[in-house]
Amino acid sequence: MAVKVTIVGSGNVGATCANVLATREVASEIVLLDIKEGISEGKAMDIMQTATLAEFGCCVHGVTNDYAATANSNVVVITSGIPRKPGMTREELIGVNAGIVKNVVENILKYSPDAILIIVSNPMDAMCHLAAKTSGLPRNKVLGLGGALDSSRFKYYLSRALGANSKDVEATVIGGHGDTTMVPLTSLATCKGVAVSKFLTKEKLDEVVVDTKVGGATLTKLLGTSAWYAPGAAAASMVESIVRNQKRIIPCAVMLEGEYGESDLTIGVPVVLGESGCEKIVDFPISNEEKIAFKASADATRKVNQIMIDSKMI
Ligand code: 2OP
Repeated sequence: MAVKVTIVGSGNVGATCANVLATREVASEIVLLDIKEGISEGKAMDIMQTATLAEFGCCVHGVTNDYAATANSNVVVITSGIPRKPGMTREELIGVNAGIVKNVVENILKYSPDAILIIVSNPMDAMCHLAAKTSGLPRNKVLGLGGALDSSRFKYYLSRALGANSKDVEATVIGGHGDTTMVPLTSLATCKGVAVSKFLTKEKLDEVVVDTKVGGATLTKLLGTSAWYAPGAAAASMVESIVRNQKRIIPCAVMLEGEYGESDLTIGVPVVLGESGCEKIVDFPISNEEKIAFKASADATRKVNQIMIDSKMI
């Protein structure tokens, strides 16, 4: 079956996502769209010129602000907006990015009313909440990239602390995609099925948690802008689980309706990702300490959403 994926925003993250999807032949057609003249066309052509090297057969093409070219997309990844600079929080981007994301969602749905949306733009939980509210799509079709990326960073830091291959590490981050709001689930983290607390001291585990939470900021300080390889690959992993109906459990931002004790809030929880998007929200047996941290994360995320409510954005 032909699968069409659109990526709006052909910056570092969007282009990386397109490259990963093409290299893994996740979709038969990948459309890159940006408002900046030539950037999508150029990056799409550059990716296509790797086709014989990476041995993929799908088609990647770029357009400048032409939403008609995105028509009938199965999945749309929205990375539009500005990235943060060193020292900034993701939440500080809301003033600029909310209007951009709302406009992109409206334009996308004109041509792909049945698309599943994956929101990457920051502050991601708020942008995903905005997309859920303004699109009118069922909640299973509006997802946010946070936990997939943060969990990958959690596994990276755990594997370094353990001296283990990251493939042998299983770990999940839930809550908001924020430097202080995300909740790495240390109680459920394992290495080859063994609780990591059997191998690491509490002090070392706390250090890993801190490194994970500021993982994005650490890279922004080094790079002068937001990271892109891991965000792009994490978004691609969400697309792949949906398009290939893999039913992977991937932590994503999704509108909660009572799950984890929260309602009318879009925030990261473990989700079964399949052909209909969020097919199930999985109730992980998190510790009391993690429940308290999740509640604090939810409260902080609601405060960011209130900015959009007060400005009548939603
Ligand atoms: C990050 O954490 C861009 O929010 C993304 O790198």
